[in-house]
Amino acid sequence: MVDDAVAPGKASRPDASPLILHAASEVVGFAKTGGLADVVGSLPCVLARHGYPCVVMTPLYRSTRAARVPMQATPHRVRVPLAGREIAGAIWQSTLADGEVPVYLVEQPEFFERDDPVSGAGLYQFTRLDGTRVDYPDNAERYAFFCQAVVQAIERLGLRPAIVHAHDWQTGLLPVYLQKPGHPGADGAGIHTVFTIHNIAYQGVFPAEVLPRIGLDWRLFNPEQLEFYGQLNCLKAGIVFAERITTVSARYALEIQTPYFGCGLQGVLSARRDRLTGIVNGVDYRIWNPAHDPLIASRYDSSNVSEGKAICKAALQRRFRLPEQPRAPLLGMVSRLVEQKGLDLLREAAPPLLAEDGVQLVVLGDGEPAYRRMLQELQARYPQQVGLALTFDEGLAHQIEAGADIYLMPSLYEPSGLNQLYSLKYGTVPVVRATGGLADTIVDVTPETLASGTATGFCFTAYAGSALLEATRRALALYRGDRERWLQVVRTGMSQDWSWDRSAREYQKLYDQLLAPAD
Ligand code: ADP
Ligand code: GLC
Repeated sequence: MVDDAVAPGKASRPDASPLILHAASEVVGFAKTGGLADVVGSLPCVLARHGYPCVVMTPLYRSTRAARVPMQATPHRVRVPLAGREIAGAIWQSTLADGEVPVYLVEQPEFFERDDPVSGAGLYQFTRLDGTRVDYPDNAERYAFFCQAVVQAIERLGLRPAIVHAHDWQTGLLPVYLQKPGHPGADGAGIHTVFTIHNIAYQGVFPAEVLPRIGLDWRLFNPEQLEFYGQLNCLKAGIVFAERITTVSARYALEIQTPYFGCGLQGVLSARRDRLTGIVNGVDYRIWNPAHDPLIASRYDSSNVSEGKAICKAALQRRFRLPEQPRAPLLGMVSRLVEQKGLDLLREAAPPLLAEDGVQLVVLGDGEPAYRRMLQELQARYPQQVGLALTFDEGLAHQIEAGADIYLMPSLYEPSGLNQLYSLKYGTVPVVRATGGLADTIVDVTPETLASGTATGFCFTAYAGSALLEATRRALALYRGDRERWLQVVRTGMSQDWSWDRSAREYQKLYDQLLAPAD
């Protein structure tokens, strides 16, 4: 099929504007399990505003249809050879929330329309009868299909991306496919590649036998390229094949070069450290701003934060049938229920905290059965103090950010983290473990930081329940004991600007370096 469509965004912009193509497995508004979706739904809008037009490509899931975003079919089809079959797909078109940045969705019902919250089937995993979650056995094929569909869609749609920016393991093979002979990025055709690691713990590791099934040459299966302890590693593919690698905070960029955080890839990353940059995530204040958030009980800003939060807190207490006590400190958490998020620390710290009179805890989360059970037990033990929603609920996430006094984020590791940044804006003081992006974004309350007006939260270092307990107790003491100082910390957080503008400029700098003519 020959298509001569003009690259979106190009018509109205000077020809010199480079087109950036973002490819990711989830995009907010279409499908979401975590912060990756938020990033890919927001960053391209800001880049476009700054003169770097973007398009986004993502799979069309069942939840995408359920989200009811307006989408149009395009006449374009892809056909990907996979495991001896030819798999067909279709391309749909929509836009990001700004109504400007085009989103191309890859439709392939067999691969992408199996998610179903009722039966516990997610984007990447399904739930066994015993409640455990396991990866779909054909994830390698599903995302290898997606990557190859992106390569074909570039040609079919007549796009001329200057840069293909891939995110996380699901698109790690994209830089590899782009460079295959005859493909758009091959032979110095001028497509540059950037790969962002949002979470190094998820690598997309598959048995070597999958290689020929997904159209990759055995010659690539060596320790310098795709091989990882005898298996195929998709995240490593992105790290090795992309020209530039980024991750989502400066601290995490250093951490992942160490054995503890690197999850086996520390050597590969250290070897490419001159290509690795840490750029912290930003917040989309169109979506996360209590001054105009339609999902919360009352709108507020720093001038009326006490009144606004009081209304939101009462609404949250009602929602969870907790006693409507205005001065009971309410701790909140919104999280994927996985080891990363420090739930093992909560298990230890919650009982002594809840033993204190009046402390309330509200948790919204979805994930591993062991953590679901732990939270259910906590609620059964303290029914008057614990509110629990074991589901995925965007509206409730906003209501917890607005209604809680204190936000808990005791992560084992945290590449960037968005919820602590949302909490700052909602005047909900974060208690965080100082790791990755949490260390880079939250300033611990001390006499010095209070005096200098820089304190925004409570940080602790040791990965121990006692450390979370101690930090939360410090927060509770200030909340109860010094209203004026508490409000100072709240307002400092609310006044900070974590919008995407600054971080988008960092990405632009990186793109400019790639696009600069070679000497
Ligand atoms: P991660 O990407 O590791 O999950 P982030 O802090 O970067 O962590 O982003 C998490 C995002 O996912 C936030 O937008 C948060 O509100 C959202 N989220 C996580 N769990 C849920 C849930 N159960 N319901 C609604 N939103 C959730
Ligand atoms: C990952 C990380 C989180 C980060 C998000 C978006 O899921 O766990 O820290 O904010 O990606 O980059």
